[in-house]
Amino acid sequence: MASPLFSLLQIKSIILRNRMVISPMCQYSAEDGFANDWHLVHLGSRAVGGASLIIQEATAVSPEGRISPEDLGIYKGEHIEKYKQITAFILSQNAFPGIQLAHAGRKASTSAPWQGNRKLTLDEGGWRTVAPSAIRYHEDEALPPLELDKEGIAKVIADFKAAARRAHEACYKVLEIHAAHGYLIHEFMSPLCNTRTDEYGGSFDNRIRLLLEIIEAVKTEWPVDLPLFVRISGTDWAEGGWDVDQSVVLAKLLKESGVDVVDCSSGGAVSHQKIPVEPNYQVPIAERVKKEAHICTAAIGLITEAEQAEAILKNGQADLVFFGRASLRNPYLPLTFAHELHTDIIWPKQYERAHVKENK
Ligand code: FNR
Repeated sequence: MASPLFSLLQIKSIILRNRMVISPMCQYSAEDGFANDWHLVHLGSRAVGGASLIIQEATAVSPEGRISPEDLGIYKGEHIEKYKQITAFILSQNAFPGIQLAHAGRKASTSAPWQGNRKLTLDEGGWRTVAPSAIRYHEDEALPPLELDKEGIAKVIADFKAAARRAHEACYKVLEIHAAHGYLIHEFMSPLCNTRTDEYGGSFDNRIRLLLEIIEAVKTEWPVDLPLFVRISGTDWAEGGWDVDQSVVLAKLLKESGVDVVDCSSGGAVSHQKIPVEPNYQVPIAERVKKEAHICTAAIGLITEAEQAEAILKNGQADLVFFGRASLRNPYLPLTFAHELHTDIIWPKQYERAHVKENK
């Protein structure tokens, strides 16, 4: 049987050469949102490495939506030029460039992991964060986030819309909305972070309203023939929080609104979460969403081996497999897996001899 991992997948007008996707991963290496050669080489080498789709890290739709001052942004026209270079290179390698649009909400304004991953004060170049409700993520944070008013919510939606327009101009071919990991959109979705009493809080319909409004706004700028993904946290892993049942209901609505793939991650809403981390720990979320909402899903999280990824696809648990840390260890993971599985793929011509029989 042909390898499911190296089978094609058409989503709208694009045909992915295999099912291996590079998961978005912050590099904390930008200045004022601008990409540089680090991002070009980091993303470009993963395109050379054989992934069909490389999704660029959480890219902020506004300066205050950045997790750290070093996050990528797409809140100015000037950002586009370097992104065009990145997308052109990825496309030249027969891979597709994707971008994850994000607003970090109350988890914004922190230092990079190697600088302690802590809240930055205004003096340190930080800023006042915003959220659905004025609830701190960590109790020891000096200030709670500011509760967004209607005008603030309208600005967030407009920022996503403008970012989608710029992403298209920069030639990204897949747009992923980041609605996971306790960032702004997920904060609205989770009852543990959202205690609003207006039409953006309370009932399920109210808590998902921001996400659906952002999707509608993005769709006015993002071409109908290009894929739209949404990353969700399938569960908060905390009592009284967002859960997989709600994710299934949401996924049905996402399908109706034209979303192509639900990328099923989890956690991040609250610091008291209890995540049972082990290989494939999030795969059952992708499986339930796929089977019950009848929408394509992506599996992510501690998927590190070729046979493991093959099995997820063979078992019909997901349509795509995302790779995070394993692809940081090995940018050529797809080429390595193709070699291990004795699967014929088109290698970059410069690297072809890595695949010919060992002693040639
Ligand atoms: C991440 N992750 C992440 N997720 C996301 O949706 N947007 C992002 O920008 C980031 N940034 C990020 C940076 C780094 C350095 C890591 C390691 C992770 C989460 C990532 O995409 C993935 O979901 C997790 O790492 C779990 O998958 P793996 O690493 O077990 O394959």
